[in-house]
Amino acid sequence: MNLHKPSKLAKTKKFFQQKESQTITKHIILESYLRPWAMIARKYFPTACYIDGFAGPGRYDTGEECSPVIAARILQEESGANMSFCCFNVELDKELYYRLEKETDEFRKNMVIINYHGSFDVRIREILAEINKINRCLAFFFIDPFGYADANYSHFEMIAQNEKTEVLLNFAYDSIQHWSTQTPEAVTALFGTDEWQSIMFNGLRKEKEKKLLDLLRNK
Ligand SMILES: C[S@@+](CC[C@H](N)C(=O)[O-])C[C@H]1O[C@@H](n2cnc3c(N)ncnc32)[C@H](O)[C@@H]1O
Repeated sequence: MNLHKPSKLAKTKKFFQQKESQTITKHIILESYLRPWAMIARKYFPTACYIDGFAGPGRYDTGEECSPVIAARILQEESGANMSFCCFNVELDKELYYRLEKETDEFRKNMVIINYHGSFDVRIREILAEINKINRCLAFFFIDPFGYADANYSHFEMIAQNEKTEVLLNFAYDSIQHWSTQTPEAVTALFGTDEWQSIMFNGLRKEKEKKLLDLLRNK
């Protein structure tokens, strides 16, 4: 055992102590995407669902909002008289899940919020089954794992079966670049093909990042 290497749990706890600048940028992107989505949903659909596959505790230790609270706040602000918003959030860590339950409670008077304790990999099937029961439902998935190991192409395939669905993926290029030689099978699972290998090991960073994103988009 390497006593100097922080455990996964310690890294997770540290991550939620306060927002780093890249997380602030990520949340600006989420907000700028979600608000127009909610406005369109309100106009044309009776129900719209936000699904956060890797939710976190709801708020950072500083009180700053995590993605499920940002989403619930925006959907509450954009809610309309003749439609309803639902949020499905998944968190693997038990302690963070309990915090998430507490932090999302205030929004329950205005929308349905279901928080799942467990792995997105497993819960995605239940969530898709719930969404499929709803008539004319628009869905927005936010997929934001640590690194890339828990994001899987098979998730995108399942999600894409519902045509009124959008996915915002936090694409961890640096993590893929760093770990790809050690966990190539996880990268292949993310892309659903091993074609990434011919891209990753040749050329300049910007070009490689674009080609990898195109590989995922075009599938
Ligand atoms: C990058 S953080 C999410 C941050 C959050 N989306 C935000 O923007 O505020 C990833 C979260 O996913 C959780 N997690 C890790 N593996 C998971 C899995 N397989 N299924 C669901 N959650 C997972 C971690 O405990 C952590 O809270």
